[in-house]
Formats: sequence, C-alpha cells, structure tokens
Amino acid sequence: MTQTQRLRSGGVEAPVTSVSVYEAIHGRRMNNDFSDAVPAREALQRMLDAAIWAPNHRLTNPWRFYVLEKGGQKRAEVAQLAYDNIFQRSGSHENADGSRQRVLDAPALIYVYSIPDDRADMTQENYAAACCAVQNLLLAAVAEGLAGDWSTGNTTRHPQLAATLGAEPDWTMVGALFIGQPSRPSASVRSAADDVTVWWE
Ligand SMILES: Cc1cc2nc3c(=O)[nH]c(=O)nc-3n(C[C@H](O)[C@H](O)[C@H](O)COP(=O)(O)O)c2cc1C
Repeated sequence: MTQTQRLRSGGVEAPVTSVSVYEAIHGRRMNNDFSDAVPAREALQRMLDAAIWAPNHRLTNPWRFYVLEKGGQKRAEVAQLAYDNIFQRSGSHENADGSRQRVLDAPALIYVYSIPDDRADMTQENYAAACCAVQNLLLAAVAEGLAGDWSTGNTTRHPQLAATLGAEPDWTMVGALFIGQPSRPSASVRSAADDVTVWWE
C-alpha cells in the first residue's frame, strides 16, 4: 500500500474513452472466458483509480485491493489454496487442479476487501461502498476493452486467504475479480425495472 494521499475530484484527470456510461453498464456482463493477453498494468491502475471514486459515506476509504500478478509467487500461493479447498470438498485431484489452474491462468486477478468499523452501521456502509468500488472497476474494465468475473466462491472463503494476502482477519471479503480480454460475448437477463419500481405521483 502506498503512503496516504488526499486526492480532490476536481484535480483528477479522467481517462478519455469513447465508451459511454450506458454502454459500459450494459456491456459489463460477467465473463470468465479470456484470451491469454495480460491486461497492461496501466489499464489496471486506471481501473483502480476509478474504483476509489465510488460513493463513500464519511470518506472512510473502506476498500483494500490486492493485485496478484500473473506468474507471481503470491498468485501461486493463492492457487494452492484453491487446490486445497476443492480437493478437501470433492476429493478429486482433477477438480482441484482445474480450480488451481483457473487462478494461475487469470490474465489479471484482484481481491477486494472492505474494512469494518466499531459501529455496525458504518461497517455496512463500508461494505456497500466497496461493492460500488468493484462496480466502478468493472465498468472501467469495459472502457478498457476488458471483462470481469466477480466471484465470492472458492478461494474467497478460504480461511487462510487473508493471511496469505496480508489482509486483516476481520476484514470482509468483497470478491475476487478475474479480469481479461473476453474471448466470447456474454449475455445476461434481468426483470424489467418497471417490475420492481413503484412510482407515486
Ligand atoms: C457479490 C457478488 C458475488 C458474486 N459471486 C459469484 C460467484 O461466486 N460465482 C459466479 O459465477 N458469479 C458470481 N457473481 C456474478 C453473478 O453471478 C452475475 O453478476 C450474474 O450472473 C448476472 O450476470 P451479469 O452480471 O453479467 O448480468 C457475483 C456477483 C456479485 C454481485
């Protein structure tokens, strides 16, 4: 983690992109089929820079990000956790290997935590803000020509993950973000907004 800096929104230059906000929102579909291309560090940095401008009640700076570079030692350690987790549950070396390989192969992999507060309501707000940060990051990914898969499965539940990454044991896991260039289009469904909205006039 770098030294604490205070940024002012008015002084931050936004990256230029031809992707509109609505295009990013509708283009951000969960996708975990990636080409081998590793996203540029600069692109990931821009996405993280976008993440931290999520709404944040009381400006608590509640998000923590761990970027695990492909081929790095930390990636290998977390991949081993994935293996152990699945092997323990399934007893299958094949399944466990697949899970380990998924961690090793991800073009980019970011773990996100939110930090708690002494007050339960602020802990909840912090988690909400960290989720908004993930959404910012994933929308920025679309602008970078990338796609992501937000996962709260497997390694994210491993009791040794926090210690392996250097996170505090009481931090809340927000998710693992597998990110890369999509190798296939992805689609999803929603109920119409009208189905879940009441307009009182
Ligand atoms: C908090 C959260 C956790 C998620 N965890 C998983 C997960 O563990 N595995 C998974 O396949 N997708 C996970 N997803 C992605 C959802 O499955 C995905 O958003 C959903 O299928 C709708 O697809 P869309 O985002 O492309 O519209 C998660 C999404 C959120 C917001």
